[in-house]
Amino acid sequence: MFILDSNIGLFFGRFHAMMVHLPIGFLLLGGIFYFLENKQQKGSFQKVLPYIFFLASVSSFIAVVLGSLLANEGGYPDSTLFWHRWLGIGTALLTTILWLRLSGRISIHKNTTQWGVIVMLLLVTTTGHLGGTLTHGASYLLDYAPSFVQDVFGNTSTSSFDEYPKDPDSILIYKHLIQPVFHQKCISCHNAQVTKGGLALDSKAGLLAGGAHGDLLKRKSNHKIELLHRVSLPKEDRKFMPPKGSPMTFHEIRLLEYWIEDGYSFKQAITDENIPPAIKNLIQQTYGLSDQKKSFVELNSVPPAHPKDIKALQAQGFFIRALSQKSNFLQVHYRDSMSCEKLQLLLKLKDQISWLDLSKTALPNECMELLGQLPHLTKLNLSQNAIENTSLQHLIASSKLESLNLHHTTVGDEGLPYLKKLPSLRHLYLWETDISPDGVRQIYEKYPHLNLNIGPH
Ligand code: HEC
Repeated sequence: MFILDSNIGLFFGRFHAMMVHLPIGFLLLGGIFYFLENKQQKGSFQKVLPYIFFLASVSSFIAVVLGSLLANEGGYPDSTLFWHRWLGIGTALLTTILWLRLSGRISIHKNTTQWGVIVMLLLVTTTGHLGGTLTHGASYLLDYAPSFVQDVFGNTSTSSFDEYPKDPDSILIYKHLIQPVFHQKCISCHNAQVTKGGLALDSKAGLLAGGAHGDLLKRKSNHKIELLHRVSLPKEDRKFMPPKGSPMTFHEIRLLEYWIEDGYSFKQAITDENIPPAIKNLIQQTYGLSDQKKSFVELNSVPPAHPKDIKALQAQGFFIRALSQKSNFLQVHYRDSMSCEKLQLLLKLKDQISWLDLSKTALPNECMELLGQLPHLTKLNLSQNAIENTSLQHLIASSKLESLNLHHTTVGDEGLPYLKKLPSLRHLYLWETDISPDGVRQIYEKYPHLNLNIGPH
C-alpha cells in the first residue's frame, strides 16, 4: 500500500527545514535572556531560563534527527553537509549542558557558562548559515545584494548575468538568455555540488552530460526531449520541474525549445539570420533586446570637448548639440554658406563630432577631404549641394559612417566605386541624384541590409 512504497523517513525528513526554526528561536531567546539576566544581577529572567533552554535542547535534538533523515535523500555537497551535521549535533549537546547547568542539575563556573552561551550562539548562526547554503546554494544570500556588497564578498553569481553585452552580435542565446533562467530557477538543486537527479545545470558541460536518465537534449524513443518535458508538465505532476520556486515562463520554455530543436549551439547570437521572426520577436518582447546593431555612438565614448573650442565654433555660426551627456559625442549643423576656412575649424572638435549636417551650404568640393579627417563621423548630411563624384573618395576614410544623405546632389554612377567602400554604411539617401537604376542595384548587391532611400520611383 502507499505507506509501503512511500519513503517514510524522507517524508519526516523534509520537515527538517521547517522545524529547525524552532530551536533557533529558542536558542536566540535563551542567549538574550541569559545576558539580560547577568546584567540585572538578581533578575526576573532567572526563572524562565531553564525552561527556555529545556525547549531549545529538545527541539535541537528533534531537528538533528529529522536532518539526518533528510540527508539520506542525498545530493548535498559532502563537506558542507558534514559541518552542518556535526555543528548541529554540537549545538544540541551544548544546549543540553547549558540547560543542566541553568536548572541547577550540574555546577559549572559562571565564567565558563558565559562562554558556553557565547559559543552556543556562534554555533547556531554557523549551523543555520550552512543549512541555508545546503538548500539554496552558496550564493543565495548575496544574489540580490547591492553590487558593492557583492564585490566585498566576491560574489560572482547570477547578478553578473543581468547585464547584456552592448553589441547584439555578442548576446548569445544560451549564455545570456537561457543560462540565467537555469541559474535563477534550477541550480539550487542542480549544480556541481548538489546534483539532484544526477544533473548539474550550472555549466555547459553539466547540461551536455545530462542526468540520471541520460541525455536531456536529444529526442528519445518516446519523442520527448527530457529537459523540455520536465518543465512543461502540469504543475501538479510529480515530475514537474522545478518542484518548488517559480516555474519557467511560457516564453522561456518556448525559447529553450527553439534552441534545443535548432541544435543547441552555444555560440548562436541573437543576431543570427536563421532565427525565425517569431523567435526574434519573442526575444525582443521578452528580453527587450533588439538584433539591430547599435550605432557607434551608443557603444563608445570620447573625452569631452573643451568648452572654449565649442564657443569658438558657435561664434562662427555653427549649431552644436550633445548627442548624449555620457558619450560626449556632438551633433553639428551649419546653415550658411560654407568656406574651407570654416570647415577647417571643425577639426578642433574632430574626436567629438559624430553627426554633421552641411546640407544646402554650397559646400566647396576642394576641401571635402577635411570631412575624412573626422574619425568618429557616423551621420553626414550633404544634401542639396553640388557634389562632384570624385569628391566622394574622401569619405572612404570615414570608416564609422553609418548614414549618408546625398539627396538632391549631382552624384552619379561615377561615384559608385567610392560609395561601395563604406564599411559601416546602413542608411543611404540617393533621392534626386543621377544614380541610375543599375547603380542602385549594384549598391543593393554590395549592402544587402542597407536602408536605401531613392525617393518616389
Ligand atoms: C528544489 C529542487 C529542484 C529544483 C529547483 C529543480 N529541480 Fe530538477 N530535479 C530535482 C530532483 C530531486 C530531481 C530527481 C528526481 C526526479 O527526477 O524527479 C530532479 C530531476 C531533474 C531532471 C531529470 C534528470 C534525469 O536525468 O533524471 C531534469 C531534466 C530536471 N530536474 C530539470 C530541472 C530544471 C530545468 C529545473 C529548473 C527549471 C529544475 N530541475 C529545478 C530537484 C529540483
